[in-house]
Amino acid sequence: MKLFIIFSITCCSLLSFSSGRSVPNDDADNNNNGRIPPVRAVNLGGWLVTEGWIKPSLFDGIINNDFLDGTGLQFKSVTVGKYLCAETGGGTIIVANRTSASGWETFRLWRINETTFNFRVFDGRFVGLSTAGNGIDIVAEAERPDATETFQIQRNPDDLNRVRIKAPNGFFLQVKTEELVSADYEENGGWGDDDPSVFLLTMSGRLQGEYQVTNGYGPLVAPQVMKEHWSTFIVEEDFKFIKENGLNAVRIPVGWWIASDPSPPKPYVPGSLQALDNAFSWAEKYGIKVIIDLHAAPGSQNGWEHSSSRDGSQEWGRTDDNIQQTVNVIDFLTARYAKSPSLFAVELINEPLSPGVSLDNLTKYYQAGYDVVRKHSATAYVVLSNRLGPSEPTELFGLANRLRRSVIDVHYYNLFSSIFDSFTVQQNIDYVYNNRSAQVNQLTTSNGPLIFVGEWVAEWQVSNARKEDYQRYAAAQLEVFGRASFGWAYWTLKNVNNHWSLEWMIENGYIKL
Ligand SMILES: *[C@@H]1O[C@H](CO)[C@@H](O)[C@H](O)[C@H]1NC(C)=O
Ligand SMILES: *[C@@H]1O[C@H](CO)[C@@H](O)[C@H](O)[C@H]1NC(C)=O
Ligand SMILES: *[C@@H]1O[C@H](CO)[C@@H](O)[C@H](O)[C@H]1NC(C)=O
Ligand SMILES: *[C@@H]1O[C@H](CO)[C@@H](O)[C@H](O)[C@H]1NC(C)=O
Repeated sequence: MKLFIIFSITCCSLLSFSSGRSVPNDDADNNNNGRIPPVRAVNLGGWLVTEGWIKPSLFDGIINNDFLDGTGLQFKSVTVGKYLCAETGGGTIIVANRTSASGWETFRLWRINETTFNFRVFDGRFVGLSTAGNGIDIVAEAERPDATETFQIQRNPDDLNRVRIKAPNGFFLQVKTEELVSADYEENGGWGDDDPSVFLLTMSGRLQGEYQVTNGYGPLVAPQVMKEHWSTFIVEEDFKFIKENGLNAVRIPVGWWIASDPSPPKPYVPGSLQALDNAFSWAEKYGIKVIIDLHAAPGSQNGWEHSSSRDGSQEWGRTDDNIQQTVNVIDFLTARYAKSPSLFAVELINEPLSPGVSLDNLTKYYQAGYDVVRKHSATAYVVLSNRLGPSEPTELFGLANRLRRSVIDVHYYNLFSSIFDSFTVQQNIDYVYNNRSAQVNQLTTSNGPLIFVGEWVAEWQVSNARKEDYQRYAAAQLEVFGRASFGWAYWTLKNVNNHWSLEWMIENGYIKL
């Protein structure tokens, strides 16, 4: 049965390719495949939703910038030589009896300011002073952090990875025994190996997203830093460049807080809406289409920095309120830009991650988001991002087949999976021609949703590849993704990592459109 379905889909898609993808009758309710000029787009990544790896210098001015929200810290006691651990992952005492550090031994920071933090443990609870008994034992019981969960980290100025932790009662944490950690040690000024309040610090994982940059600078400095970034990272000249180099669209990642500009919830700062307004006016001037992409949804749909997760947790889609809040963001954005001739598509959410985001809840959101786009625009395409993680690439077809002018977004990177680790240049290129093209074909149906390769890049795990190798790899992807019925978008326009910057790739002759 399965074989039969795959065969029949491939067969139809081949037919539709050979007829030039011009399936007639765009007005039929159920039919998405009108004659659209395929999108040849570039993402404006790292602009209105921060990603530190795209522009690391954005974080340079933050004091203690290795202690940002979501950074995982592990503490090894110098006296017992073992790691602090939230026993059973949280909900009970903190012990110091683990010889190696992993999930239960990692404490994720919530930054209050440069020296003051909450520590979140594996199960989502926070470290604090025990409220029962003597009030000095250290536990991980609080669901939400309050004053008793607020600690200061002191670093040895001569060795920043030797630290002590000051509890809200004014005393330092000390390891009395492997099974007893309490806050009753008085400062003595030393950093020796015999001091039960001293810990060796290791870091495990860090996030550099919008939450980290805005909260890292804090409410006084962040507005200036972000305003400067938004007004210089992408400018009108970039739209001219896009136009002159054979692209016809931009996909613009935005964060949910944009809808409450000019007074977004802390720590976000105002101004990204003005920047998006500017993008629309430049797009109109140069005849560029805009795909608005809700890249960061409230609570984070995938736990990554690019969805502005605070600490790696993924909380989007858990409640009806949260989904409604997200629908309101789409409502706001579509209403604002529906009259612009450049508004081409609205992508309801980027890369929701399975299994944390369930298909049922996502479908509920997609239907409501679709309806709210249609309230303002009969013509804007509505883009539904496939889930990452364990999921079927066709799982949204049941829904999308019912939605006129809907598009499925897939992201194809020869990265982020160990299968690519040992690939040669030629294996990467063959994979594009064989496997990626089979994946695109599998998704292409004559009466179903359009297909958008909304993110790809000419980067791989190959080291020391030649320019010519990159050129062939990019050309292969352009050819195969050029057959996607809605088109494609390169990730991204600007990036300190050259191959991830379409601007650099074009200017240096690696990619020609
Ligand atoms: C650490 O201490 C706790 C509390 O006494 C105990 O339940 C646990 O088994 C100990 N773990 C190890 C690895 O010693
Ligand atoms: C950080 O916050 C704590 C708790 O609110 C406060 O006591 C401390 O003075 C603050 N430090 C700085 C540098 O702002
Ligand atoms: C889906 O939404 C319901 C409430 O609408 C919630 O109870 C459930 O936990 C959600 N599932 C997931 C995986 O978030
Ligand atoms: C790619 O496709 C080829 C040919 O269909 C297949 O033999 C191979 O296993 C696929 N490779 C991967 C990594 O899936």
